[in-house]
Amino acid sequence: MQTLQVDLGTRSYPIYIGRGLLDDGALLARHIVGRQVAIVSNETVAPLYLQRLSAALADFKQTHIVLPDGEAHKNWETLQLIFDGLLQARHDRRTTVIALGGGVIGDMAGFAAACYQRGVNFIQVPTTLLSQVDSSVGGKTGINHPLGKNMIGAFYQPQAVLIDTASLATLPARELSAGLAEVIKYGLICDEPFLGWLETNIDALRQLDDAALSEAIERSCAAKARVVGADERESGIRATLNLGHTFGHAIETHMGYGVWLHGEAVGAGTVMALEMSRRLGWIAEAERDRGIRLLRRAGLPVVPPQEMTPEHFLEHMAVDKKVLDGQLRLVLLQRLGEAVVTADYPREALQATLTTDYAGLVDSLGDA
Ligand code: NAD
Ligand code: GLY
Repeated sequence: MQTLQVDLGTRSYPIYIGRGLLDDGALLARHIVGRQVAIVSNETVAPLYLQRLSAALADFKQTHIVLPDGEAHKNWETLQLIFDGLLQARHDRRTTVIALGGGVIGDMAGFAAACYQRGVNFIQVPTTLLSQVDSSVGGKTGINHPLGKNMIGAFYQPQAVLIDTASLATLPARELSAGLAEVIKYGLICDEPFLGWLETNIDALRQLDDAALSEAIERSCAAKARVVGADERESGIRATLNLGHTFGHAIETHMGYGVWLHGEAVGAGTVMALEMSRRLGWIAEAERDRGIRLLRRAGLPVVPPQEMTPEHFLEHMAVDKKVLDGQLRLVLLQRLGEAVVTADYPREALQATLTTDYAGLVDSLGDA
């Protein structure tokens, strides 16, 4: 088992990474307060892993809250089901909420923990690659609004993150690729050598090679912990973790939540951010193409939806959380391995990015 630390003073917590950790009740128990736990999961993950987690926590009084699956359910109605479950089972303030599932469950269970009786103990047990490398770490919790992705929520840190890498064995290939979008993100924004490592290991990752997955998860979590430790509430550097997300969130909102997976939308959005960085003269064409090739080898869409016009993008991007005083800030690359957040770009560069023929661009790269 590897242990990393998110350093946030009194709100610091460990990230445990290893095979079979789901069964390690003693490890979890270190971070549980009181005698009551509420495990929040969904209809897909619960039949796979809830029994094991429940058995590991046999010493505790448990409530199991099983939600409908999918991004389309990341909303008020589903959140209310968590509060219903907590209140019906008379959970008090010394309750621990445990999120067992992907980013949708983690974001919702975390938000519920932040709100229930003004805040109860919370533990993340992420089971998708995306949630293991990104969403379970850093304390962003929340739900979607029909007009904007993740628009309602709270910063609320967990007490611990427990990553059982063996749980990825049941993850559909499409979901694994979605997680790789966030892994590649770390290479692009802050760790150029990691990009090279990913280029060598991308096939092993897609084949669920355990050593490769563990290393990718550790390096990703270490990068995320560093950034969150430096800027918990996103007043600066944390926004770089949103590379490709402003374009991506527009895709998710426009297409309908769940039609494009979050990681897929981030994949295509990252291609747009690479292209805009190239248009500004910050990265070379060959560097843009290097990024696109890696995203494509990860099994991600690298062409935004054909039906989305520049006007669609601009309308959705106007409600991005990086808009400040009406100014849309974008995460762009100054070079591979270094990102900036800026509103200081010519509008024509954004317009040209939105009108680029991405299908033609990707075709021109050939098959390799
Ligand atoms: P998800 O939670 O919808 O999970 C993807 C699918 O995989 C679901 O159908 C789920 O039931 C299933 N699943 C989960 N674990 C499984 C397993 N081990 N075996 C088989 N199936 C499994 O999606 P996600 O990609 O994990 O997370 C995306 C969400 O995370 C989005 O809502 C996004 O906004 C959010 N997010 C949040 C942050 C953050 O910092 N809080 C960061 C990135 C993304
Ligand atoms: N996923 C972006 C962040 O946690 O800030």
